[in-house]
Amino acid sequence: MRHFLLGLLAFASISAFGSGDIARGEAAYAVCSACHGAEGQGQRALNAPALVNLDAEYVARQLISFRDGWRGGDGDSVSAIQMRAIAATLRDDEVVADVAAYIDSLPPTSTEITVQGDLALGQSQYDMICGACHGGRAEGNLALQAPVLAGVDDWYLMSQIEAFRAGTRGTHPDDRLGAQMRSMAGIITSDEAARNVVSYIRSLEPQWK
Ligand code: HEC
Ligand code: HEC
Repeated sequence: MRHFLLGLLAFASISAFGSGDIARGEAAYAVCSACHGAEGQGQRALNAPALVNLDAEYVARQLISFRDGWRGGDGDSVSAIQMRAIAATLRDDEVVADVAAYIDSLPPTSTEITVQGDLALGQSQYDMICGACHGGRAEGNLALQAPVLAGVDDWYLMSQIEAFRAGTRGTHPDDRLGAQMRSMAGIITSDEAARNVVSYIRSLEPQWK
């Protein structure tokens, strides 16, 4: 499985995002704090995940993904549609890089455990499938553009696995990386299996940058 996956990923490329301007990013972040919190710590009541535990590179790419309608399109969740409306205001890729750089400059936060599952079953699925791209400790793999998962809100991981499985994420014709992840999410065949793998991921100690 691993060799097969790595073969598939030989074409993955490093993205073209340079580093943004933190001071300009702070100004652009003002609008985001209403939902994601002043410290980027997230706000469960609004389904807005913590952002500070993600890589700048991934934050930037997801903003563009929302802006360009790969996420938050027809049939997607209210949360994703909301986020798309905000991302639509970030027309300039430079502003996207700036806001991502500012978020990256904030300290990481520890997220609450809200999902319970069978850790042993979760681990075996994780090690067999997910680790090939997301890393053995869910630390992410920039070269494969697979994001860090350790330290990400567990309820958010659940909602994204569901979105990939339902095809509200990862089905836009230009969304190559989303499609890759969607095919992997298909391997998670029940909500219970999703809870297992997510609770295992949540049990991993994040390795902050
Ligand atoms: C109206 C509330 C709201 C505002 C304002 C908002 N967001 Fe969001 N954001 C959300 C919600 C809700 C989600 C989860 C979407 C989903 O479930 O698909 C989200 C998701 C995201 C994600 C995806 C994270 C991931 O791991 O996939 C990023 C990145 C993000 N927001 C960045 C921002 C930035 C930067 C701003 C300001 C320019 C911003 N958001 C403003 C509500 C908001
Ligand atoms: C073939 C490589 C690959 C494998 C294997 C893989 N993923 Fe992914 N995953 C990705 C990529 C690439 C993305 C980013 C997609 C994007 O940019 O929208 C991703 C995104 C995600 C996200 C969204 C995170 C966020 O913050 O938005 C979750 C959750 C996730 N993967 C969970 C898993 C789980 C659980 C498994 C194992 C069942 C798994 N992945 C296996 C490549 C992979």
